[in-house]
Amino acid sequence: MQKVQAYIAEHKERFLHELLDWLRIPSISADPAYKADVQRMAEAVADKLRAAGADAVEVCTTEGHPIVYGEKIIGANLPTVLVYGHYDVQPPDPIDLWESGPFDPVIKPTDLHPQGAIFARGSCDDKGQVYMHVKAFEAMMACNALPCNVKFMIEGEEEVGSVNLGKYCEANKDKLACDVVLISDTSIIANDTPSITTGLRGLSYVEVEVTGPNRDLHSGVYGGAVANPINVLCQMIASLHDEDRHITIPGFYDDVEEISPAERAEMNKAPHNEDEYKAALGIDEVMGEKGYTTHERTSIRPTLDVNGIWGGYIGEGAKTVLPSKAYAKISMRLVPHQHPDKITELFTRYFKSIAPPSVKVVVKPHHGGFPVVTPTHTPEYQAAHKAMEATFGKAPLPSREGGSIPIVALFESVLGVKSVLMGFGLNSDAIHSPNEHFGVFNFYKGIETIPYFYENYAALKNS
Ligand code: BES
Ligand code: ZN
Repeated sequence: MQKVQAYIAEHKERFLHELLDWLRIPSISADPAYKADVQRMAEAVADKLRAAGADAVEVCTTEGHPIVYGEKIIGANLPTVLVYGHYDVQPPDPIDLWESGPFDPVIKPTDLHPQGAIFARGSCDDKGQVYMHVKAFEAMMACNALPCNVKFMIEGEEEVGSVNLGKYCEANKDKLACDVVLISDTSIIANDTPSITTGLRGLSYVEVEVTGPNRDLHSGVYGGAVANPINVLCQMIASLHDEDRHITIPGFYDDVEEISPAERAEMNKAPHNEDEYKAALGIDEVMGEKGYTTHERTSIRPTLDVNGIWGGYIGEGAKTVLPSKAYAKISMRLVPHQHPDKITELFTRYFKSIAPPSVKVVVKPHHGGFPVVTPTHTPEYQAAHKAMEATFGKAPLPSREGGSIPIVALFESVLGVKSVLMGFGLNSDAIHSPNEHFGVFNFYKGIETIPYFYENYAALKNS
């Protein structure tokens, strides 16, 4: 291990600069205009895996964006770790709010990252975290210190629901056979408070269309007599929460796992400063479900949020128009035991039922995903715990998080394996927002910690 850590220390500047090359590729999976860049990015991942020492590296085509696979098998009797991550990124919009180009990485210090942070779309979510794995693997290969088999599966569609990865897993069960999946696509509580993610929320995502009159109308001539679909949509959306910020959809909470008071007390011990939280977001007050703390609201409780809403005239100046249609994209984050299809169904039924007869409503389901909770008594959790303890000098806390990685539930149902969620970002790193960044400290910490994970895991599995 000393040799591995010395190798990392010797090459860390190079590692950082190589990552910047990845960050220059706009691999935006949601936008077909970037298809060629996504392909170029997949090839860049394959090149770096090969250079680090992986065998059987391939860029596997799918109906969507490619999946990059690579492996190093050193012994049939040794445990196998499957590293999963994603090389695709969210669209950078709104572009105007970036202080430097989203695909023009810049390193500069911030309050939380005094050693510098890498500003670019995908720096934290997830290229920077995938690159930690490639470089940790390079270091172990270079020092002849890999203690188990490794498989890499890095996809290009995580940010759009991983539809083709699900099919790929179904079709390649033998190839992907492993003992555990290792994922770095989540956060730690703070740079001096390491944590391991023990839960992710699920997701149900829908788009709604409300239609009023058969054409846009003059808002003076018809206004007051004909339903305005935007007004109606706003009212319908507003009625989806009650005054306590509970979701009003009948049956929505039926399957929600109630957390014991002891568990809630435990999770609320994690450091959280509400004033700093508010100040960092520029808000005077938080808002959420009555009876729960901010940490609970963003991890163990389900939510419903409008992600986008449009319709009518949004160009320069004013146009007096009563629009024909209004739209919204709505996400519901789910907690254990809630089923994404059932929630989509409940939403659809209720949303249609609250529409006044003056409009027509269409609900189009998008992607969904199951929530996950990971156990803490497993060899993989213990291996991650010991690894972080070694590099941070402090035991990591278990932490349930609010984001979703839908494929994790599929790894369990299709491949029959658990995942360990050992991420290194901070929730304040602005993933999906303008000025996304990733701490240089966090990038290096990840590279240093991952080899310990392998060492601990191989030892625990062999004991
Ligand atoms: N890395 C995130 C998920 C995440 C972020 C988990 C922070 C825990 C903490 C991932 O890339 C992501 O954004 N997932 C999407 C999934 C969706 C597009 C199906 C999400 O959560 O919105
Ligand atoms: Zn993301």
